[in-house]
Amino acid sequence: MTVPPPILAPSILAADFAHLADEVRAVEHAADWLHVDVMDNHFVPNLTIGLPVVQSLRAATQLPFDVHLMIEDPRRWAPGYADAGAYNVTFHAEACDDPVALAKDLRSAGAKAGLAIDRDTPIEPYLDLLPGFDTLLIMTIKAGFGGQRFVPHLLDKVRTARRHVDAGHLELRIEVDGGIAADTIEQAAAAGADAFVAGTAVYGADDPAEAVRRLRGLAERAAAGG
Ligand code: DX5
Ligand code: ZN
Repeated sequence: MTVPPPILAPSILAADFAHLADEVRAVEHAADWLHVDVMDNHFVPNLTIGLPVVQSLRAATQLPFDVHLMIEDPRRWAPGYADAGAYNVTFHAEACDDPVALAKDLRSAGAKAGLAIDRDTPIEPYLDLLPGFDTLLIMTIKAGFGGQRFVPHLLDKVRTARRHVDAGHLELRIEVDGGIAADTIEQAAAAGADAFVAGTAVYGADDPAEAVRRLRGLAERAAAGG
């Protein structure tokens, strides 16, 4: 298994929204990406932040933005996040009838393109689309809320994806999102994930930067075979 060094992406969903710039700076030198959860109260019941917040936050940090769109009609909205300077824009397979076309649009707009697979969606129908993507986000919870309990059997999808990516020599990050913490990140890394979103485990800690470093150490160890 050829797994590159892990990417750690703290999710600001668990941060203090009244002090977002400070919260982002708290992980600036420890994280690789900043995970930004956009929810529209339609694709998921929850409602979070949108384009204006991403645009404002872009000026507050050097961290690449990993935007996770949990929204309906991503073809309408996703390219705006690329234009706003997002590094990677991920949309849900369940919300899009032509994922490859949207991935192309995102790449044309200068971003990387990500495909997200929610808890109840099988991975198999999407494997052949992966050459058109840069990241594959496999939910390890049901998308919609932070602070949920990690669902271990969803790592079967990570294992399937890892085999497919390695066999096809694809340049693709396999990202896990939901319930990633010190007691779950090693299983996820051993299953073949190489990018890790963590909200509660980072922003619920007294020292968010230290929490990121600790998670990174665990992921590296597990990827190296324990
Ligand atoms: C939930 C979001 C996650 C969330 C993860 O739908 O996609 O990114 O922030 O939060 P934790 O790490 O608390 O499970
Ligand atoms: Zn997310």
